[in-house]
Amino acid sequence: MQAHTKQALEDKPLEDKHPEEEPLAEKLPGDTSPEDERPDERPDKRRRDDMPLGGKPLEPAHLRHVLGHFCTGITVITAMENGQPPVGFACQSFVSLSLEPPLVSFSVSRLSRSWRGIRRAGRFCVNILHAEQEPLCRRFAATGADRFAGVEWWPSPVTGSPRLAGALAWVDCTIETVYPGGDHRIAVGRVRDLDIADGEAEPLLFFLAGFRRTAPPTPSASAPTP
Ligand SMILES: Cc1cc2nc3c(=O)[nH]c(=O)nc-3n(C[C@H](O)[C@H](O)[C@H](O)COP(=O)(O)O)c2cc1C
Repeated sequence: MQAHTKQALEDKPLEDKHPEEEPLAEKLPGDTSPEDERPDERPDKRRRDDMPLGGKPLEPAHLRHVLGHFCTGITVITAMENGQPPVGFACQSFVSLSLEPPLVSFSVSRLSRSWRGIRRAGRFCVNILHAEQEPLCRRFAATGADRFAGVEWWPSPVTGSPRLAGALAWVDCTIETVYPGGDHRIAVGRVRDLDIADGEAEPLLFFLAGFRRTAPPTPSASAPTP
């Protein structure tokens, strides 16, 4: 892997930070997350499970730094409730979950405003970003601005969620289940349709809080099927 855009993002922090906790919207069918989490699962309370066996507490900054060594692609997850403006957020926690049935998953901060819209819509589109879409990623992680202003998109074929122009691939989903996951929610989506875009399949990567691109594959680069 080779760094093309070695950007520490210090000028504009892109982390998932919100100053205060807001109450979550009403439960939806299929949402198994208990909004009234047990007090000992609240992020501000340290549980014994948060301690390594030596008893030293795990600091969030250390967690973030070590886990940031896991390189991922980047998506923008979008949705649109009937009659409402579209919503979307930059998301690196997207994963393929199951082939039969076809399921995907992502985790989202319980404080995310976009998530409220996605959950209310009950459907979403995963836009897998192309290497050239770093500015789009920044836009969909920034707060305060209209993220869709000037962005070209079309409704996805089944759920009508925004399909962003220039994305490497898209996955059109309905929300299947939502699980609690500490200070995040784990959303599971059932894939209704998906496809890749024409052109060069070069993804945008995220590693150690910076954007990266892939290097050309080595001659022996074929890997076992996961
Ligand atoms: C590269 C990148 C990956 C991100 N991945 C996630 C993620 O997986 N889950 C999440 O909740 N936030 C993630 N974020 C942060 C959100 O994009 C951002 O905090 C969020 O959009 C805040 O706005 P919202 O309240 O509209 O959700 C990521 C940000 C960046 C820059």
